[in-house]
Amino acid sequence: MALPFFSKTTPSIRERCRADPATKLRLRYAPYYLAMDAQAGTKIRRDGRDLVMLASNDYLGLTFHPKVIEAARAAVLEWGTSPTGARCSNGSRAYHLALEEKLAAFLGREACHVHSAGYLSCLSGVAAFAQKGDVIFADKNIHSCLWDGIRLSNAEVERFSHNSPDDFRAVAAHTSPDAAKMLVLEGVYSMEGHIARLPEIMAVAREQKCFTVLDDAHGFGVLGRDGRGTVSHFGLDADVDLVCGSLSKSLASTGGFVAGPRDLIEFLRTHGKQTIFSAALSPGQSAAASAALDVLQTEPQHLARLWANTKKYTAMLHALGLDTWGSETPAVPIVLGSKERAYYFWQALLEKGVFTVMSIAPAVPVGKDLVRTAISALHSDDDLARIADAMAYAVKKI
Ligand SMILES: Cc1ncc(COP(=O)(O)O)c(C=O)c1O
Repeated sequence: MALPFFSKTTPSIRERCRADPATKLRLRYAPYYLAMDAQAGTKIRRDGRDLVMLASNDYLGLTFHPKVIEAARAAVLEWGTSPTGARCSNGSRAYHLALEEKLAAFLGREACHVHSAGYLSCLSGVAAFAQKGDVIFADKNIHSCLWDGIRLSNAEVERFSHNSPDDFRAVAAHTSPDAAKMLVLEGVYSMEGHIARLPEIMAVAREQKCFTVLDDAHGFGVLGRDGRGTVSHFGLDADVDLVCGSLSKSLASTGGFVAGPRDLIEFLRTHGKQTIFSAALSPGQSAAASAALDVLQTEPQHLARLWANTKKYTAMLHALGLDTWGSETPAVPIVLGSKERAYYFWQALLEKGVFTVMSIAPAVPVGKDLVRTAISALHSDDDLARIADAMAYAVKKI
């Protein structure tokens, strides 16, 4: 019989949650889940103050575009608010098929499947295709949804240094030549704003005969011809098997997609658990994404304005001596190097009316604690001037 002195009592799940230090820290400093009372364009209202939104991913600024709003309104009137079930059982709707055809045509792919979140699309795009015994090569900095997909696949995972084709080649050299292989990467890294070194990385992927899944949540609408994304930016469409992404950024909606050859999309519909068992994209969100995709192709001024704003904004940050981690895109981190500095910087921006989001280790590598910002085509010159004042103030506070 174990002496009570030596026996450990395992805390219950309830006790463990109550004692969780990360939750206590979050509630004490309260930097996340702030409640906003209203939003109009780039302005959000909190406690009676209008703040400039610099944290959302409304890259093309289409969330308040009249055509997008009208399309969502008309779809809800015609189809109701929700399909209230999965397409496998409840059936697809005309608006799903129309959006999938439109997205596939835009991306130059044969077919596409849309889900109710980008997280589900990207997860399903990995988990449905890899299996036990396969080897998955993954960039160390990929998004959580891709890691979840990798975990659920039960494949073996080999990580390579962020955006390093040389490390990818070195890691791949030690893997079994007989295993089926997959490469998982992002087109534009959401936290860093880096563009994948796709030509060099795909050269290694070809040597290794990798099936490639690219998450282009932050490249879609931002890079390539008319915003066709990272593969279009590099002209490498034929090399990437599946492109997945989100409708919640440039397409001003919520939801996600997986696009690729028709046989692979049909395979996803047969084997993707999240595809089969999760309720379908709602009518309003489908219509908003579809209308935004039309706007993207007929009103090039939004993409032009996004890049003009990005150039002005990053030049302003560099003039203040801020470290943007070499971001090449509208997703712009400001690296502060410790969680304390990131917190004081974030708070100073908020004090001056600019809303951003902090990302601290372990969500980012140790020493890369940062304030993550994203510029939009909708930011006006006045917004940029207000952001510049707030940044100058925050620099003095750290
Ligand atoms: C790289 C990347 N992939 C996937 C997702 C998930 O997309 P969603 O927010 O539409 O679920 C995100 C969201 O932040 C992302 O940054």
